[in-house]
Amino acid sequence: MSIKRNDLAGKFIVIEGIDGSGLSTQASRVSEILNGMGHQTYKTKEPSDGPVGGLLRLALTHRIDISPGTFALLFAADRLDHLENEIIPKLSSGINVISDRYCFSNFAYQGTDIDTQWLVEINSHCMIPDITIFLDVDPTVCKRRIEPRMREEYFEKLPRLRMIRESFLKVIRLFNEEQGANIAIVNGNNPIEDVTHDILEKVLKLF
Ligand code: TYD
Repeated sequence: MSIKRNDLAGKFIVIEGIDGSGLSTQASRVSEILNGMGHQTYKTKEPSDGPVGGLLRLALTHRIDISPGTFALLFAADRLDHLENEIIPKLSSGINVISDRYCFSNFAYQGTDIDTQWLVEINSHCMIPDITIFLDVDPTVCKRRIEPRMREEYFEKLPRLRMIRESFLKVIRLFNEEQGANIAIVNGNNPIEDVTHDILEKVLKLF
């Protein structure tokens, strides 16, 4: 992968993890704290709220049926649209961006049935974040958290959650060792406040 670094004025921060690991809660908390400290921060997520993100939500809830390859390409297309229309404009104007999910979700989730090299290729436009936090939470805890939502999305069954966690750990090792991608693992099993503290400790080193 020809790795593209962020040389724009804002910092690009990503939070990744398996379903139910508390990504949106932690992204909101970290964003609020950074804003409170005077580091202007914009919170966003993938799938995005853009047009391709809408298609992905239909596929994730089984309202449309697409093949794994098409699914992977849609995630990558959504990411490019998200980068060009939301992330890069914010970073360029000096605003920090924190995204709940990014390309490592593509590698970890779609990587369970699609060749990693191809996934890397379709994400070659993908600018590597200044820091990626992998929130590592026990899959059985995630499963318990997800159950009350009462919806059977694509990726939420326990064996699948375990497989995706392993897939994330493999991708993290690969990208840290071969690309110096700055992906940090944070123990997300701790109380919410402690997890936020541990994330901030790593993120604040960027400022
Ligand atoms: P999720 O964060 O759970 O969104 P929401 O809370 O709105 O339902 O993300 C939806 C799912 O998409 C999640 O199971 C992870 C998956 N996903 C991929 O498989 N590949 C990707 O590239 C991305 C960004 C997400």
